[in-house]
Amino acid sequence: MNVVLREVTDAHFPHPLPMRERITRVPQSKIREVANAGIGRKDILPLWFGEPDMPTPDFIIEAGKAALDARDTFYQPNAGIRPLRETIAAYMTGLYGQDFDADNIVISGSGMNALMVAAQCIIEPGDAVVTTAPSWPNLPAVQQILGAEVVTVPLEAQEKGWRLDLGRLFAACGANTRCLLLNSPNNPTGWMLTREEQQEILDFARARGIWIIADEVYARIVFDRPAAPSFAELMNEDDNILIVNSLSKSWAMTGWRLGWITAPRRFLGELEKMIEFNIACPPGFVQQAGITAIRDGEDFVAETVARYRAGGDYVYERLQEFPRVFLPKVNAAFYHFVRVDGVADSMDFAKRMVAERGVGIAPGIAFGPEGEGHFRLCFAQSRGLLEQAIDRMAPLLR
Ligand SMILES: Cc1ncc(COP(=O)(O)O)c(C=O)c1O
Repeated sequence: MNVVLREVTDAHFPHPLPMRERITRVPQSKIREVANAGIGRKDILPLWFGEPDMPTPDFIIEAGKAALDARDTFYQPNAGIRPLRETIAAYMTGLYGQDFDADNIVISGSGMNALMVAAQCIIEPGDAVVTTAPSWPNLPAVQQILGAEVVTVPLEAQEKGWRLDLGRLFAACGANTRCLLLNSPNNPTGWMLTREEQQEILDFARARGIWIIADEVYARIVFDRPAAPSFAELMNEDDNILIVNSLSKSWAMTGWRLGWITAPRRFLGELEKMIEFNIACPPGFVQQAGITAIRDGEDFVAETVARYRAGGDYVYERLQEFPRVFLPKVNAAFYHFVRVDGVADSMDFAKRMVAERGVGIAPGIAFGPEGEGHFRLCFAQSRGLLEQAIDRMAPLLR
């Protein structure tokens, strides 16, 4: 039998189709760009990523291992396993004095997943989302992916700390504003809303019919009280609010990918639907470890926060040696966002810090144009490493 091969011409090849333009416009992480410049070098002191230096503590790892030994390897309910939702509801009730139950809690596969799910439930293309800047880049990126316009209000650096002018925040809200996206305690600045400010914001959002997404993943990393002021203390069942939380930072569980959303009960059905279409469910054994972390982790949280505080104070004091350097005091999260006079190109500065001094820092521009001239440093590191890092950085800071 003769097989007739069709003549292959250009016309038979598929047209190379572009991916969604909106996706191609979302920038790559500029922190990664600096980190890539240091890849393969073992001598780098890594202060660039927002991650505790210690692995997850043993008591949490053991709980995850026990669940795996018990063959906890199956699909789970979309909203998460009930015992974890109940444990978190009790934790939130204890911490914030409101009466939460399991129906206020949806478990997510990380804070990042929770942020995406929350926005998917709220944002229509063309909506405006008002947020603060500088900002962790993933927060505006999620909104851009969903087709929203992001409007930023700059935080202001003062000696005592970063602050937000609420008048400017409210003035930035127009007719198409769908949502206020607020990350407090804040990455990269450590800025923290007061309870009074949160009340004013909630009153404004109620009056204007605007959503609030509150990213509170650093809620427990605060240096003068057990937890940062939270919208969870103020919200009620009629509010349009989604609060995002995570086990990554306070329980040293970045690699496990576990978080949660606290919401009025009426949103449970939609939220669980969107968990289904993103990840179906977080892994069962990870959720089992999460129960142990939340239930038995208070001593661990207190110890690590004390250590971060000491690291933050140490770096703050050391950086005062350099007249070109300005940084506000921080009282929460584990970052300093540092301005260096004379630095016009923070990407170039961060790359030089890697190449010439062997210290990994995040360039301020990674957090938006408002961050130019700055760098971010994560101080959730041992004292020895921080000492060495500042010693090495000194020549470029003078
Ligand atoms: C402000 C903020 N929100 C959310 C997250 C997400 O954390 P994860 O996805 O590890 O829970 C991070 C992580 O760096 C963050 O800095």
